[in-house]
Amino acid sequence: MLSLNTKFVDKHVKDIDIKNISEEIYEAQRTLMSKSGAGNSFLGWLDLPVNYDKEEFARIKKAAEKIQKSCDILIVIGIGGSYLGARAAIEFVKSPMYNRLKKDTPDIYYAGNTISSSALSDLLKICEGKDICVNIVSKSGTTTEPAVAFRIFRNLLEEKYGKEGAKERIFATTDKEKGTLKSFSDDEGYETFVVPDDVGGRFSVLTAVGLLPIAVAGIDIDAMMQGAADAREKYSVADINKNDALKYVALRNILYRLGKTTEVLVAYEPSVQMLCEWWKQLFGESEGKDGKGIYPSSLIFSTDLHSLGQFVQEGSRILFETVLNIKKSNDTVIIPNDPNNIDKLNFLSGEELEFVNKQAMLGTLFAHYDGYVANIVIDIEDRSAYTLGNIIYFFEYACAISGYVLGVNPFNQPGVESYKKNMFALLGKEGYEELRAALKARID
Ligand code: PA5
Repeated sequence: MLSLNTKFVDKHVKDIDIKNISEEIYEAQRTLMSKSGAGNSFLGWLDLPVNYDKEEFARIKKAAEKIQKSCDILIVIGIGGSYLGARAAIEFVKSPMYNRLKKDTPDIYYAGNTISSSALSDLLKICEGKDICVNIVSKSGTTTEPAVAFRIFRNLLEEKYGKEGAKERIFATTDKEKGTLKSFSDDEGYETFVVPDDVGGRFSVLTAVGLLPIAVAGIDIDAMMQGAADAREKYSVADINKNDALKYVALRNILYRLGKTTEVLVAYEPSVQMLCEWWKQLFGESEGKDGKGIYPSSLIFSTDLHSLGQFVQEGSRILFETVLNIKKSNDTVIIPNDPNNIDKLNFLSGEELEFVNKQAMLGTLFAHYDGYVANIVIDIEDRSAYTLGNIIYFFEYACAISGYVLGVNPFNQPGVESYKKNMFALLGKEGYEELRAALKARID
């Protein structure tokens, strides 16, 4: 389980501040739990850890085994909430270097999250001579980036394996009944998995959206669901002193009201980088609307201490940090002794590298605290699938309540549509003629 350490935030937030904001937090929690707030038709994620489709869950495991047996590479095609959770989980539990490590599960690459020709062309080169499976993930089925990438990979698979062979290698995760991708998949005979109607993209990692690729990587999805289920029970308690998710909401909203408009999620493990990306989408898309919201950003230390550490320590006083302290490392590396002590590092001989990493974290915490930067620390047991389930639910729950405290609908994303409309118009899609003319006039 996670636990919140508030020692490094006490210059900015006093107990009385938490007491003063707690009624607002409880009110937001009641709104969420009674399903009476804005966006309440998107609350399926709340009960997912205990109330999920068991038949589909079993099918996910079977499909994962089939993919493991039949391919060298799984291409996960999706954007935003349709790929970030899976990638975050695989890198968190396994490694950001998962593909390059010795293993008996397929390599996993991601497509359809950019429109870069170079990125896609590199990936196609990597696929040459390999057996490939594809998991296309799109709730709407119409998002341009994944739809274009899917068309390209579908062609590749049909050329390589024939139409019949390709259909055994394509898995579609999409809406239960609506949408182009669903009807197309049914017509073609692809195995399909469901993005439930009441679960938005950024809250969907515990559905087939995340679970299929995660299971393909050999991660224990039962343990992950159990971690989320235990977190669900723990964080439903309406007592800020016994509920760290509520306390986290309180701290970040108090800091926001003090003018700290940027939250930096910090970890001392590169394997957490994609989890930070998932978290950024979760909070950014949920809170950033109506001219409000804490800007979510992330840094990996000590790497980024050598680039942005200066700004954090002494730059504009607009940010606070939330530090993910992974207590137990997956691996042990011992620093060797050098009889000549050329680098004068023999005071570290025989030490675990992780010990050095932890001292870097402590040293930074003290430095930033002394530099008047608020630091919320979240202690995290390890990088297991179970703990990841805890983390996912903790942040989803906190995010929803925080959105209600801010007074926004945490479950919509109207702003994402603006660029899409313009892009469709510029590309000449039917129905966008008027907008196209208006944009053209602005270019000319
Ligand atoms: O959180 C969201 O809703 C978005 O990030 C979507 O997941 C993303 O835009 C992809 O949409 P779709 O799954 O419909 O292709």
